[in-house]
Amino acid sequence: MALLEARDVVSGYGDAEILHGVDIDVEEREIVTIIGPNGAGKSTMMKAVYGLIDCWSGTVTFAGEDITDLRADRVTERGMCYVPQRENVFPTLTVRENLEMGAYIEDQVSAADLEAVWERFPILEERQTQKAQTMSGGQQQMLALSSALMIDPDLLLVDEPSAGLAPDLVGDMFDRLVTIRDETDTAILMVEQNARKALSVSDRGYVLDMGENRFEGAGEELLESDDVAELYLGG
Ligand SMILES: Nc1ncnc2c1ncn2[C@@H]1O[C@H](COP(=O)(O)OP(=O)(O)OP(=O)(O)O)[C@@H](O)[C@H]1O
Ligand SMILES: [Mg+2]
Repeated sequence: MALLEARDVVSGYGDAEILHGVDIDVEEREIVTIIGPNGAGKSTMMKAVYGLIDCWSGTVTFAGEDITDLRADRVTERGMCYVPQRENVFPTLTVRENLEMGAYIEDQVSAADLEAVWERFPILEERQTQKAQTMSGGQQQMLALSSALMIDPDLLLVDEPSAGLAPDLVGDMFDRLVTIRDETDTAILMVEQNARKALSVSDRGYVLDMGENRFEGAGEELLESDDVAELYLGG
């Protein structure tokens, strides 16, 4: 059984059905990327998996347990974290306070956890007393990731980690995600617009379009598929 199994998920907002029965699996230690056009429902799927919006039907199983429609904070307690596409740090809190918020389900932040963050992202140590809003987009993205990792999750959901980064930093971000997986055994499910680069570091990928699964396969396989390239990777 996979670490995450989302089956036939139907969901949306108000009366608008956005997801028409989507399936996503993530195995332990896997990096899996969801790509697809704007409005395809990628972010909506992340929210349904993490319990921020209800599944109208379908099931989400995590580590063998049914977590369908479990509240997001309870999902976090079971070891799944989520970094949203936007507004993923507390802008007026300092770097250090953001990390403390990330660890909210623990009694307090351990020195070892902070040390691990500083080691991975030295810039955050330098900036630890600065408000998050004073940092660049890339630095804020590192902070958002680090906050999510404070509870040492088994699965990290991250919606467009490369969004807002200068083009020459995008590859860097993906390399860091691979390092995080390698060092912490955390599986990663991400949504990405930088589809080629993301798939090239991914074990597997999914193409979502109009709220439905269109393609899935190994990262390399999707990259080499003429159909996927033509329709979703800009030829
Ligand atoms: N909070 C909301 N209320 C109502 N409709 C929403 C809401 N969020 C998203 N939608 C709609 O749901 C559809 C899917 O949006 P979603 O954000 O999941 O797409 P996406 O694949 O993540 O797109 P993008 O690549 O632009 O991030 C879109 O039509 C969008 O307008
Ligand atoms: Mg989105």
